[in-house]
Amino acid sequence: MKTLLHVKSSVFGDQGQSAQLAERLIKRWLADNADGQVVVRDLVASPIPHFDAGSIAALSTPAEQRTPEQQAAVELSDTLIAELQQADAVVLGAPMYNFAVPSQLKAWFDQVARNGVTFRYTEQGPEGLLQDKPVYVLATRGGLYRDVGLDFQVPWIKLILGFVGIKQVEVIYAEGLNMSDSQASLAQAQSELDALALA
Ligand SMILES: Cc1cc2nc3c(=O)[nH]c(=O)nc-3n(C[C@H](O)[C@H](O)[C@H](O)COP(=O)(O)O)c2cc1C
Repeated sequence: MKTLLHVKSSVFGDQGQSAQLAERLIKRWLADNADGQVVVRDLVASPIPHFDAGSIAALSTPAEQRTPEQQAAVELSDTLIAELQQADAVVLGAPMYNFAVPSQLKAWFDQVARNGVTFRYTEQGPEGLLQDKPVYVLATRGGLYRDVGLDFQVPWIKLILGFVGIKQVEVIYAEGLNMSDSQASLAQAQSELDALALA
């Protein structure tokens, strides 16, 4: 049975444009994988705490010496990483908020990029430790940034996914969603999504 991980980060929940595009993509994926399961990680409904000095202390304390709080912090990181490891494919809702990913999504990446678990440093430089898998990024924006040299979001998402070993990144852009032609932009994104060859 295949597993699709849906990572949600829109503050608008299921009404968000990224969530609606995700729903469309997930329907297609389920049509191809009738016995597949979808695991939802909703970063807005269940926020992930910021990574801080306490997180580092928890991860570097031997299991038998951890306080209950440290144990809970490590378990959260372990759970998020396990969800990513066990997924055959990932749908990543990625709205643009203030030119970047939502802070909720940044907090998720801070938890799943873990030295010795999802990446490691070698003599030749960093090496990603996750098995490669398709990640479908749904990049929703109010304005236009694609191909004009002002997109600091999608290149960063590709960089950090590559850092942990994931190179199969497909991006569906829904741009100009706060502009007058937003319906046409959305329709374009939907048709790109429908044409996507899903693994
Ligand atoms: C707090 C906030 C910040 C935003 N910042 C930007 C931005 O920097 N650039 C942009 O093009 N759109 C920006 N937008 C618009 C969103 O990207 C747009 O509404 C998009 O559809 C959001 O996706 P979602 O509906 O999945 O949350 C912002 C929206 C919010 C709520």
